[in-house]
Amino acid sequence: MLAGKSIVLCVTGGIAAYKAVELCRLFVKAGAEVRVIMTSAAKEFISPLTFVTVSGNPVYSELYAAVERYDVAHVGLAAEADLFVIAPATANCIGKIASGIADDLLTTAVMAAASTVLLAPAMNVRMYENPITQSNIKKLTVLGYQIVEPEEGELACGDIGRGRMADPETIFRVSASLLARDKCWQGRRIIVTAGPTREALDPVRYISNHSSGKMGYAIARAAAIGGAEVVLVSGPTNLAPPVGVRMAQVVSAQEMREAVMSYFPQSDVVIKAAAVADYRPSTASGQKIKKGGDMTLTLVRNPDILAELGELKEGRYLVGFAAETEDMCANAHDKLRRKNLDMIVANDLTEPGAGFDVDTNVVRFIFNDGTERQLPKMSKTEVAEEILKEIYARYRYKKTRKSD
Ligand code: PMT
Repeated sequence: MLAGKSIVLCVTGGIAAYKAVELCRLFVKAGAEVRVIMTSAAKEFISPLTFVTVSGNPVYSELYAAVERYDVAHVGLAAEADLFVIAPATANCIGKIASGIADDLLTTAVMAAASTVLLAPAMNVRMYENPITQSNIKKLTVLGYQIVEPEEGELACGDIGRGRMADPETIFRVSASLLARDKCWQGRRIIVTAGPTREALDPVRYISNHSSGKMGYAIARAAAIGGAEVVLVSGPTNLAPPVGVRMAQVVSAQEMREAVMSYFPQSDVVIKAAAVADYRPSTASGQKIKKGGDMTLTLVRNPDILAELGELKEGRYLVGFAAETEDMCANAHDKLRRKNLDMIVANDLTEPGAGFDVDTNVVRFIFNDGTERQLPKMSKTEVAEEILKEIYARYRYKKTRKSD
């Protein structure tokens, strides 16, 4: 899969360094040429000989040491690389790259890199959540660096929280899709919706739901990696915009409808992962509503954006989601038919690890030709990749827009 690709695997000093060995093995097994850079701190955790053995190449560490292959090691490594992967990426390493500090072989090589750089952060939860680390990650993301988010769980230090380096398999998969960016979706325009909508009651209160946006953002990110021109129409979330994606930030269902409709004529595929509020208060007070006795709210229906797209779709491929708490399959089939969809991704909100505000999902694909596919619990990044693979396989054979 990665035959002929050159990957520079950068290992920094954290306990997750041992997992980088498995990542190196996966790259080599897939046919990549892997060159490993280790910081001096990384060598405290794992011997360079391990990487020499697994990669079949020398390990590079010293900025000024003469090396066999390159006149200037950091420039040579950077010039050859199709991809840089920094795993684990410590808070220190992330901070240095974000600040433009280049004081060792790793940071100078990364600074000289013209290829994509993928970072897999790994650190203590408080270090990860520290606003300095978060702002460094945000800065790097905006600059086009790719991040594989760490996972939640028990950390080596005994603390519990987010900070554990993503699984080597996940980092491998993201690396492979970054390298494959040339690119099955090139020239195609995809609209993705994500997150909740908020329906105002007054200037300080609203009706909404628990959607975090993670599912939709993962789809947008994967589609952009695949070369698509992506517009992400997003309700309010705390997530950083994915690299290379055009953002349309909205708040209410009506705003989401307007944004989707404005991009719809140029689109080829629409994937609606947003949890749109079906109802909104019939009036939104201009001033904060004062406390009094009991209060009755009158709600009115919001537009069903997806059903409207279903009527207008022509040759576009239309994908909806169904978030259900009962009779998932029957309800999803009904939505697929009523909204004239090509595919629906059904998730059962009562299933552990599925649905709102978790990093994983458990989904069932249902297609308009009657076929179905149940997926096991997987990360939302993996679910996103599977959704796009299915669409690609089926959409290729469909007639595209009339204007094509
Ligand atoms: O954001 P996360 O925390 O990662 O959670 C992911 C998710 C649970 C939100 C996602 O996986 C999901 O299931 N999204 C759809 C949730 C939902 O609102 O489903 P629904 O059954 O109410 O709507 C069916 C479809 O119609 C959806 O594609 C929805 O975007 C669309 N819809 C619904 C109502 C409406 N007024 N307009 C719409 O377009």
